[in-house]
Amino acid sequence: MSKQTILVTGGAGYIGSHAVKALQLVGYEVLILDNLVYGHQDIAQTLGAELIVGDTNDRGLLDKLFSDRPISAAMHFAAYAYVGESVNQPDKYYRNNVVGTLSLLEAMVAANIKTFVFSSTCASYGVPQQIPITEDHPQAPINPYGATKLMVERILQDFDVAYGLKSVIFRYFNAAGADPNGAIGEDHNPETHLIPLILQTALGKRDAITVYGSDYATPDGTCIRDYIHVTDLAEAHVLGLQYLLKGNKSEIFNLGNGNGFSVKEVIDAAKKITGKPINVVMGDRRVGDPPALVGSSEKARKILNWQPKYADLNLILQHAWQWHQKRHA
Ligand SMILES: NC(=O)c1ccc[n+]([C@@H]2O[C@H](COP(=O)([O-])OP(=O)(O)OC[C@H]3O[C@@H](n4cnc5c(N)ncnc54)[C@H](O)[C@@H]3O)[C@@H](O)[C@H]2O)c1
Repeated sequence: MSKQTILVTGGAGYIGSHAVKALQLVGYEVLILDNLVYGHQDIAQTLGAELIVGDTNDRGLLDKLFSDRPISAAMHFAAYAYVGESVNQPDKYYRNNVVGTLSLLEAMVAANIKTFVFSSTCASYGVPQQIPITEDHPQAPINPYGATKLMVERILQDFDVAYGLKSVIFRYFNAAGADPNGAIGEDHNPETHLIPLILQTALGKRDAITVYGSDYATPDGTCIRDYIHVTDLAEAHVLGLQYLLKGNKSEIFNLGNGNGFSVKEVIDAAKKITGKPINVVMGDRRVGDPPALVGSSEKARKILNWQPKYADLNLILQHAWQWHQKRHA
């Protein structure tokens, strides 16, 4: 039997590239579609997957891809994900994340490809009413980025009813870490995520790490977040895809570790792992930062039989550190 081909949009980016690797490991053929606005050609090359440089807004390209290639399903990571930028340039976010996804979904329905795995976000919940957050928690995003993801979730619900397009939606908490073998990892530019910023400071690429707020109602006053290893995240995507390919109904899953770490705890752990001094600057709170964001992933464990292998913060930091030293050598 020939291998099934999966289209991975955004596969030259951070999480998408780890999903490409996880798919290849279990025997899928992968086709990456990435416009390389934020993705990296060398990462796609390292993976040995075919890269089509193009945009989800290019309907002609999508139609051609779906008619020329035997694609069974799509995993859709392609999006812009800078919360602050989404507040200042909402049009850019609605066009790319909503209109671009709609164009992809329309092309899939036209080609009769009806299996879709989607990257949503815990930002779609807004400020949590209780933690750990379960999938039935009300969704009330407080920025355009979160709103774009919620809109796509709604589109997917409607496409299921109208066209029978089946989807698994994953709402991730904070993706972190890197491939345990050190082949691929996180390289956002600009970087806004805590762990890479800390590690870049340890490497001397930045003068200091700023902690936004130390007077929250948390044990040490700094914000608490749920960090999930990117390889665990990628494996959940493979399980979600296989769940759909078996003919199951559309589902929504949180993906987090179920326990939170404060900014201060992450910095202290990073000091131990790197053995380097890390300058810390205390800053003001940022508008819209909830004190604690922790997700429950019980549903993914139960229905998908997902078992994270790298839930330990020290492992997440070790793998990220191994990657950062190599990438910034
Ligand atoms: N990183 C996180 O912690 C996190 C948390 C929740 C959700 N997400 C979501 O996961 C997905 C992947 O995030 P990431 O951190 O890997 O980001 P990333 O920027 O590293 O990857 C996104 C990739 O998509 C590409 N892309 C963007 N728009 C495109 C378009 N219109 N057509 C083709 N390619 C396009 C970019 O070039 C990039 O390679 C995003 O949808 C993001 O919203 C990420």
